[in-house]
Amino acid sequence: MRQEFLTDVIDGLSKKPKSLPSKYFYDETGSQLFERICALDEYYLTRVELRLLASIRHELAVAIGPNAAIIEPGAGAGIKIQTLLETLESPSFYAPLDLSEDFLLRSARAVRQRFPLLPIVPLIGDFTQAMHWPKPDDINRRVVFFPGSTLGNFESDDAMSFLKKMRELIGSEGALILGVDMVKAIAMLEAAYDDREGVTETFNKNLLVRINNELGGNFDTDRFSHKAFFNEEASRIEMHLESRVDHEVKIDGHRFKLGKHERIHTENSHKFTLESIHGLARRAGLVCRKHWLDEQKLFSIHFFESNEFHSR
Ligand code: AVI
Repeated sequence: MRQEFLTDVIDGLSKKPKSLPSKYFYDETGSQLFERICALDEYYLTRVELRLLASIRHELAVAIGPNAAIIEPGAGAGIKIQTLLETLESPSFYAPLDLSEDFLLRSARAVRQRFPLLPIVPLIGDFTQAMHWPKPDDINRRVVFFPGSTLGNFESDDAMSFLKKMRELIGSEGALILGVDMVKAIAMLEAAYDDREGVTETFNKNLLVRINNELGGNFDTDRFSHKAFFNEEASRIEMHLESRVDHEVKIDGHRFKLGKHERIHTENSHKFTLESIHGLARRAGLVCRKHWLDEQKLFSIHFFESNEFHSR
């Protein structure tokens, strides 16, 4: 794990322009900071998605049907899933998957408290790897629940291969419930990633703190400014850390020069239109059976099934 982190950091900082993979945001501190982001006024995504989910949960339960196995990659805090689980007819089990063990066990515990009779199978690991699932007779279909617009953090190729993997995981009879953030007024998008309290700035800079703590780096976070802006052409919010001065950092014996105003690209968060998300899913073999938007069309939830299921 450390070796992989080190290799990714050295590779990213050796590139021009410099970059760091956003998956490393989520150590314990990063996961807690993300929870704080979700509660911010400016970060409408979580609030709007939760409200939308609550309003459509009965429709979702009908679309899913009884005895479904619910799989949640990157499960996080486990709040959204509870809204869904309480409406489902006799779900057969719930399998949260996450990279962070502590976080995963905590969310599994929260779900267990609320649904003591539901079998819970927490799986620690990279969710893109968990592919081979048993299909006992009493399971009707596998349903992957992937809310939060996490798909937006993937590069286009990775988003496509993730959707293809999910299509394989659900088989010809399963379903994928996907939540994605929509393109909207730039000011609203940018405020969501550059909040007044500076929580997102701390979240962004925590990546450098993590490199210092785990890889023996010597980043001084005060030498960086948090930048977040909408790249219209790529339809994504980009987060960067911009060096305030010319300086050099050392990480495990490697040295990297940073010029004044030079940036390290830390995250992309793609924003979708109905056409773009349905087109992407279609190319991965998924057909949208139904989708829902909140009144202001800020966020969307989609119910996908395999194209094989559809053509029967
Ligand atoms: C996890 N993911 C969907 C968040 C997003 O909105 O792209 C991560 C995040 N980055 C900054 N704020 C939130």
